[in-house]
Amino acid sequence: MHVSHLECPQCTNTYEGGRRIQVCACGSPLLVRYALDRVGKALNRQDLLQRPATLWRYRELLPVRDETSIVSLGEGMTPLVRASQLGERFGFENLFIKDEGIIPTGTFKARGAAVGVSCAREVAVDTLAMPTNGNAGGAWAAYCAAAGIRCVIVMPRDAPAINTKEIAVTGADLYLVDGLISDAGQIVGRAVAQHGWFDASTLKEPYRIEGKKTMGFEIAEQMGWRVPDVIIYPTGGGVGIIGIYKAFQELQALGWIGEKMSRLVAVQASGCAPIVKAYEKRQNISEFWEGAATCAFGITVPKALGDFLVLEAVYASRGCAVAVTDEAILEAQARIAAAEGNFVCPEGAATFAAARQLLEQGWINPEEEVVLLNTGTGLKYPQTVQAAPPLLAPGDDLPAKG
Ligand SMILES: Cc1ncc(COP(=O)(O)O)c(C=O)c1O
Ligand SMILES: [Zn+2]
Repeated sequence: MHVSHLECPQCTNTYEGGRRIQVCACGSPLLVRYALDRVGKALNRQDLLQRPATLWRYRELLPVRDETSIVSLGEGMTPLVRASQLGERFGFENLFIKDEGIIPTGTFKARGAAVGVSCAREVAVDTLAMPTNGNAGGAWAAYCAAAGIRCVIVMPRDAPAINTKEIAVTGADLYLVDGLISDAGQIVGRAVAQHGWFDASTLKEPYRIEGKKTMGFEIAEQMGWRVPDVIIYPTGGGVGIIGIYKAFQELQALGWIGEKMSRLVAVQASGCAPIVKAYEKRQNISEFWEGAATCAFGITVPKALGDFLVLEAVYASRGCAVAVTDEAILEAQARIAAAEGNFVCPEGAATFAAARQLLEQGWINPEEEVVLLNTGTGLKYPQTVQAAPPLLAPGDDLPAKG
């Protein structure tokens, strides 16, 4: 275990690792810092080749102290696939999809849950609570079940139906709220204060981000220890984009990748785009987005606790933030499936809609290496696709052409 301390990115406070902790006394999320000089001595890149293809291959850069605390469903090392047909059709010479569609629970939320729940188990949490837009709840409920931790979840009633079922089947205590994730968060906030539960809300504990940063480690490893020119990420709470930026900073400090930093793009839906609005005004924090609504439900986050960290990652990497319409998202979803055979979630599809927009504007050059982060499988969102195939009678013949 190489955690040196937990650090507040807002004030100068530091905290010891390995304890039950939520946010800084000032209210800011905490970031885990490692003794990277020690990690560099304990581990080299070649060692990784012998290890299993899960995110635990980076265990020296993760916060779990004792390996017996690890709760794993086999998560991590998802494919980085070259999207040749899609790229060729739309003018990208080097387009890739980092595909989280095949990870346990069907979305990248499994990464944050695996590490977050393992750390919670290590500090003897018996009940944790969280608000969710659905996929994080599905993932945390699954890992809590495996860990024997009681899990209390509050979710907007408009979340995808499958999320209700995947959470309920684990035996978690699930409540729906007639409101948004921000309303669910307030209910959870009151409950943890009253009952002394652990608050696993986005960035209210420091370890979820550590799980999500492994997407950055994997992209670098899969590209031969270099980073692509651009990574496009569907941004809700922002943990993934903050995590990838943190991962690359750690790899740079270890000397495992060069100085180059990928330009990080935060994509939001035009029906809920607080980060984009802040970026356009060159602000460092966002404002609450009223009336948030989009088919990409996972990124319906009107105000993220870590907004300042998302914006910092975007500005410092010379990235940008863009909004795409639901219409463009659904079109992108169909294009990706037709060209690549990959049924991506609407959040993942939003990254391709953004890529097209940025290529058209000249912000991306055709030859640049662009990685789209598909955060989950489209199978979780059957309602985003309409299909009405012709119905045959048993004796009917098929036409030669459809
Ligand atoms: C499929 C999907 N993509 C993206 C996101 C946004 O994640 P982040 O908190 O990392 O911005 C979510 C969050 O719920 C999600 O479910
Ligand atoms: Zn602080």
